[in-house]
Amino acid sequence: MSATQAWERYAAGARPRRQVNAAGASTWLNWTQYPDHGPDEALFGEVRGRRAVELGSGSGSNLAHLATLGAVCTGVDLAPSRTAAATTTWGHLPNLEFVTADAVDYLTDCQAAFDIVYSIFGAVWFTDPVILLPLVCQHMRSGGVFAFSHLPAATPSVTSGGVVSKWHYPADQWSNMLAAAGFQDVTTTIIPAPDTDKPGTLVVRALAG
Ligand SMILES: C[S@@+](CC[C@H](N)C(=O)[O-])C[C@H]1O[C@@H](n2cnc3c(N)ncnc32)[C@H](O)[C@@H]1O
Repeated sequence: MSATQAWERYAAGARPRRQVNAAGASTWLNWTQYPDHGPDEALFGEVRGRRAVELGSGSGSNLAHLATLGAVCTGVDLAPSRTAAATTTWGHLPNLEFVTADAVDYLTDCQAAFDIVYSIFGAVWFTDPVILLPLVCQHMRSGGVFAFSHLPAATPSVTSGGVVSKWHYPADQWSNMLAAAGFQDVTTTIIPAPDTDKPGTLVVRALAG
């Protein structure tokens, strides 16, 4: 089985996001594994007119929110069915496109410079950061925001579930790797789960140098 096939299998079992959140909004950012939980778009600063890319965009629901706020958006996902479903659901929005690609391949071939690069439990967690982080930095405008989330890790590990590996690092290790890749002003936050017996979420934010 290839990584693409593994993510297609995951996509087939993924539950669609609710059409409206608790606040009555039809688009919103969900940085954590819990509904209506985590930071909002303020984490990115100004969004309108900014060029944004999401690495591992899945259903496209998070990126659709940035598009409604006026960003020019590209969602990249390895799984073709994710691209198709996201385009069906959100393709009517202006300045929003979804492409099927591996995150590293997409950035390697891409000529654009981004103001916002982010990944919510997405490709950043599933790609070797030694390769991905410098590539992201090279494709960002100075001062642009790079942010990602995943489960918190107490100790560094690279786990492999067959064709899909996970780079599972604690906050301080991400800070060091981001600085080495050319980022600055790194902040790391573990957002507690709404229920205290559940795992929190690590959210990492850095500025392109
Ligand atoms: C756990 S899902 C999260 C999806 C979405 N960000 C969300 O919050 O709902 C991970 C997504 O990353 C995609 N993905 C995994 N590795 C990738 C890679 N190397 N390049 C691009 N997308 C990737 C998968 O296909 C999947 O849609």
